[in-house]
Amino acid sequence: MPVKIEVDPALCTGCMRCVQGGLWGDFKLGSGGKAEYTGDSGLCIECGHCAAVCSAGAVRHSSFPGTPEEIDPSAKPSYAELMSLLKLRRSHRSFKKDPVPGEVIDQLLNAGVLAPSAVNRQTIQYSIIRDPGTLEQISKRSLESLRRVVQMSKSPVGRLFMRLAAKKAYKDVLGMVPKMERIVHASAGGRDYILYNAPCLILLHAPKTDSMAGENAAFNAANILLAAETLGLGACLIGFVTEAAGMDSSILRLASIPGERAVYSALVVGYPAVEYRRAAPKKPIVAAFI
Ligand SMILES: Cc1cc2nc3c(=O)[nH]c(=O)nc-3n(C[C@H](O)[C@H](O)[C@H](O)COP(=O)(O)O)c2cc1C
Repeated sequence: MPVKIEVDPALCTGCMRCVQGGLWGDFKLGSGGKAEYTGDSGLCIECGHCAAVCSAGAVRHSSFPGTPEEIDPSAKPSYAELMSLLKLRRSHRSFKKDPVPGEVIDQLLNAGVLAPSAVNRQTIQYSIIRDPGTLEQISKRSLESLRRVVQMSKSPVGRLFMRLAAKKAYKDVLGMVPKMERIVHASAGGRDYILYNAPCLILLHAPKTDSMAGENAAFNAANILLAAETLGLGACLIGFVTEAAGMDSSILRLASIPGERAVYSALVVGYPAVEYRRAAPKKPIVAAFI
């Protein structure tokens, strides 16, 4: 259905911000000194910028009912502040037993949804698992998936299946098998190498038909990772769970995720038991300036 974009003349102050905003010349100033939408709404990518550029809240977009929250453009953190947060962020794998309260998780999700998404579709939804029994089940099922991959890698037929499933990433997956095997063996001692006994697991899921779901989820999860640090929490992406959820539909059922959706990102969250004093070591930047 085509979107509808309108300017409320009662609110428009004729400030011309929408006209000058470079929005493809879609707004014109009408004879009454009020802006009017004259563009082709079929070209709209639903970015919501037309509503966001209007300080009077006069631009209405059918995809976004209501007026967008007002923001202070001067309230940007400095580069130094951002770098400090980026350096403080670590993948946490050691957690206190304290539960993560629902209102704190709401804060994380409020950060997640602010991430960019392709064509602003915002298809990512969340499943938050805090029930200890369900966390244990998901950890066990994910470990079982690892065990199955290790087993598959031992036979020519299994490797063929892996090659078909992993395509260009086949060699990479095969190279991971020795580590997976070690994790499977080490887990027999009862230690949780998958979820690290975290009190909370957040699964980001989207329709399987969404061609950009992987990237959308990654950006969304990155916001959550950063927000977690600011709230005194620690988080870690768990690719093993993302992979396992694609192989074992019982994980989707445990997380109440409908079958037409898939998990694109998984992260554990909790109050960290370890405080880091140094930034994560990173390899030198490789970049070509053309
Ligand atoms: C896509 C992705 C999947 C990951 N999966 C796991 C995982 O399954 N288990 C884990 O302990 N860490 C996982 N990590 C965390 C990485 O190991 C971590 O980001 C890396 O070691 C760098 O450390 P840092 O995040 O503290 O900078 C994953 C990271 C990404 C980006």
